[in-house]
Amino acid sequence: MIRVCVLISGGGTNLQALLDQKAAGFLPEAEFALVVSNRKKAYGLERAKAAGVKTAYLPTVRFDSNEAYNEALRDLLLEEKIDLVVLAGFLVVLGAPMVEAFKNRIINIHPSLIPSFCGDGFYGLKVHEQALKRGVKVTGATVHFVDSGTDTGPIILQKAVDILPDDTPESLQLRVMQQAEWKLLPEAVKLFSEGRLHVKDQVVQVDRS
Ligand code: GAR
Repeated sequence: MIRVCVLISGGGTNLQALLDQKAAGFLPEAEFALVVSNRKKAYGLERAKAAGVKTAYLPTVRFDSNEAYNEALRDLLLEEKIDLVVLAGFLVVLGAPMVEAFKNRIINIHPSLIPSFCGDGFYGLKVHEQALKRGVKVTGATVHFVDSGTDTGPIILQKAVDILPDDTPESLQLRVMQQAEWKLLPEAVKLFSEGRLHVKDQVVQVDRS
């Protein structure tokens, strides 16, 4: 059994997908030990409490720098003996203290097919606005390991989603969540918890045997 911490900043629908799959018996090797939010009002905190998962509120304003924040987060997660960190709409940049302490043990869900529409400034609805503006016909979601760059780490899973002629950023965001994100993230946590993800030369090999 591995101990999982989910980091959130907002609504937490991806967290909910994980908690639902845990309740359904899809994730027998993963225990959701902690949910951390940098925002006090993040609805995801309520979702965690409803599922009986321990929560912590860690606001950035308590710290002088991003590095100090990352050190405090790292110390909290080490104290909780966390094996896997899941970024599910967490909007604080993870720096060296976290990335080095949890190398290839942090996964992030991003609402596009990386390397399109990713990197600095691409988060949430902005990603879908840019995809519509560019006129791409297919978008999707990506789960990847987190390294020192923004959305540059080894890719674990991806799923494509069609863009429809009448899409708005909001309608596209919802379809990408329903068709891709809420499926990919539990699948990636399952694969990690079963020791089926192997990173070699920045490429993830998935053991499906
Ligand atoms: C999700 O769409 C996630 O992919 C995105 O934020 C949303 C959080 O929603 N993350 C990023 O854009 C990261 N660059 P949720 O709080 O309902 O899970």
